[in-house]
Amino acid sequence: MKRTSYISELREIVAMERRQGKKIAFIPTMGYLHQGHLALVERAKQSGSFVVLSIFVNPLQFGPNEDYSSYPRDLERDAHLVEIAGVDALFHPTSAEMYPRPMVTYVEVGQLDSVLCGAKRPGHFRGVVTVVSKLFHIVQPDFAFFGQKDYQQYLIIQRMVKDLNLPVEIIPVPIVREQDGLALSSRNVFLTSEQRQEALILSQSLNEAEMLWRAGERSARVLETRIRDRITRESQGIIDYVEVRDAEDLSEVTNMENPVLVALAVRFGSTRLIDNKVMEVEPLV
Ligand code: PAJ
Repeated sequence: MKRTSYISELREIVAMERRQGKKIAFIPTMGYLHQGHLALVERAKQSGSFVVLSIFVNPLQFGPNEDYSSYPRDLERDAHLVEIAGVDALFHPTSAEMYPRPMVTYVEVGQLDSVLCGAKRPGHFRGVVTVVSKLFHIVQPDFAFFGQKDYQQYLIIQRMVKDLNLPVEIIPVPIVREQDGLALSSRNVFLTSEQRQEALILSQSLNEAEMLWRAGERSARVLETRIRDRITRESQGIIDYVEVRDAEDLSEVTNMENPVLVALAVRFGSTRLIDNKVMEVEPLV
């Protein structure tokens, strides 16, 4: 595996592969990797491309009171994991390499970032799409892989690529969970064992909502209330949001006729966890 923290060097590595006719697959991450990230690697490997993974904890997407400085980091462990997983090049720039001077140019996100995590974390998605756009220009991938764990992020990036005609195909990868249902997240390490146990309520309440939906419930408010009540009753988690939204444009939904996203964010102590489920009628085969 090649590895570098320099933009110019990464560009040379990628250009060499391209000259040999290889397609480039790209996985942007903030590191502290787990099986969720590795599922993206596995999916990228299936494309037969040269696989580039980046690790960069992007200061631009953290609010002033968020966990930028305490975000977990372990570059050597991550490098070992991705090498075993078959990544071809690891790009781990410093902040000075990515932001050598104060930024004056950003990618703005409209509408899609005024709800869910965007409403709760002002400026977050502007920071995400700006860094992803920079990374796309550095790596120039043919394919880029994003987890549905961050469903709103995936939709926003998909839309940026369409709106700005970026020549990259965005490929979504399903959420990877622990055996007991907890969605894998780099932030799970911050949970105490009690919080870790209580956090199971997130996937459990989403599963219950899905069962209700399968049984014919179509009221978005009923589903939201059921999830909220269960989280409040059975855990000490503080709800940031529990919302049913249109799965394609995140617009408000009353009656769930089209595919919907049921998304939630809940705080356990100072750790904020997100989870979601997309509910759509499976096509008859
Ligand atoms: P990070 O949180 O490290 O996530 C990197 C990628 O891994 C994202 O596409 C995320 O959706 C995916 N991922 C994380 N946990 C997952 C899980 N349990 N199952 C499936 N996929 C999972 O998301 C970011 O970093 C940053 O915002 C980034 C896009 C790198 C921009 O800085």
